[in-house]
Amino acid sequence: MPLVGDTLGFLTRPVDLFNKKQRRYGNVFKARLFGRTGVYLLGAEANKFVLVEQARSCSSQEGWRFPIGELFHGGLMLRDGEEHKQHRGILQAAFKKEPMRQYLEVMAPIVDRRLAAWGEQTPLRVFPAVKALTLELAGKVFFDLDFSQDLASLSQAMADLVAAATTLVPFNLPFTQYRRGMKGRQLLQEYFGRVLHERRQAPATDMLSHLSQAEDADGRRLTDAEIVDHLIFFLMAAHDTTASTLTSMVYELAAHPEWQDKVRAESQAVCPGPAGLEPTHLPQLEQLGYVMDESLRLHPPLILIPRYTTQELVYEGYTIPAHTHVSVLLYHNHRTPTHWSAPDQFDPLRFAAGRAEHRKCPFGYAPFGAGQHFCLGFAFAEMQVKLVMHHLLRRFRWQLPAGYQVEFASIPIQHPKDGLPIVLETV
Ligand code: HEM
Repeated sequence: MPLVGDTLGFLTRPVDLFNKKQRRYGNVFKARLFGRTGVYLLGAEANKFVLVEQARSCSSQEGWRFPIGELFHGGLMLRDGEEHKQHRGILQAAFKKEPMRQYLEVMAPIVDRRLAAWGEQTPLRVFPAVKALTLELAGKVFFDLDFSQDLASLSQAMADLVAAATTLVPFNLPFTQYRRGMKGRQLLQEYFGRVLHERRQAPATDMLSHLSQAEDADGRRLTDAEIVDHLIFFLMAAHDTTASTLTSMVYELAAHPEWQDKVRAESQAVCPGPAGLEPTHLPQLEQLGYVMDESLRLHPPLILIPRYTTQELVYEGYTIPAHTHVSVLLYHNHRTPTHWSAPDQFDPLRFAAGRAEHRKCPFGYAPFGAGQHFCLGFAFAEMQVKLVMHHLLRRFRWQLPAGYQVEFASIPIQHPKDGLPIVLETV
């Protein structure tokens, strides 16, 4: 169909669409989505080729322009080449050891308070509850603002903006989520600009303050407008991805109660007292780490990564012309039987030393991407996920409602279609 192409299949069942294409055409095929014909590549080698070896000829900025370029202009993923490298070098200051310790300290009481309220909801819908939590955490960690209290309009603007990034109709038309997102962006930009001005006078421990002081080896700093653009992008990059990961983990631990018991026992052993989780505890939550890895393998929040070729490329005998949309498919690589034993089964120990299946196919496992645009917030995401899971495990035991069958939606972000109802019981 010349206009619609594969769009309907992509919007309703993207995994099935790509499976069908792969069966018919192999690991390199075309699809027509939203009026654009793109090339889709499968396999660990394709990830390496596009994201690493040919990164200079595969623009991230142009790849992501549709659908998020306008909403998140100036964000790190929407920059290429030298400029990207320089900005990334400065932004890294916000993820160093001491700032990370401060973020952990700030997040713990919020997680504790929010989770206490979860116990009153039966069944609890996990995905919306976790999204509200991660948004509140982002407000506090990034800007030292309390969105749960008196900043309702700002909180709504943030929610509108991140929702616009994942809308199924990403066009700037009246009365759409996308249009609300653009209005939200404008409000946030003005407000965060004023907060940044204050933080420059009196720095706090939030990310905005750290970035207001950050500089690269040549002493170059980011302008106020650049910092605000980056943090608005962080809001989106950090929010739904982490919420998706936490939801998948809650689901898998409900479906595999023996693993839930195992990681609860680990949490109790690693941090037994009422005192909070310290950065040194995080690597000790080893089994929980495997559960996170395995949940990200089975349910990667992003099922594909888009790029745009700036010059002609040849991959496995196929010529991909310049100015072509080209995407690598993460989900499918995570379930390839040639790389993973029993790929559809939940088996966290496949990531444990000794087996380490992910190391046997470098680039095949890439929930955080690869190459120069590898997720900048990877360590932050791991810390936040472990913190929330630690509190959840210590406070509750949970199970799925009787007879429940989960169905995941894969775009724009992986999540259970019904939000995932669970039944909580106090430990
Ligand atoms: C489990 C949670 C997360 C997942 C699965 C995830 C996944 C990803 C992926 C796949 C990319 C690469 C996209 C590409 O190559 O085009 C990426 C990039 C990025 N992520 Fe994450 N992310 C997560 C959490 C976070 C958090 C918490 C933050 C910030 C605090 C963050 C900030 C970023 C940034 C800034 C980039 C762009 C890096 C660059 O362009 O150099 N992410 N993320």
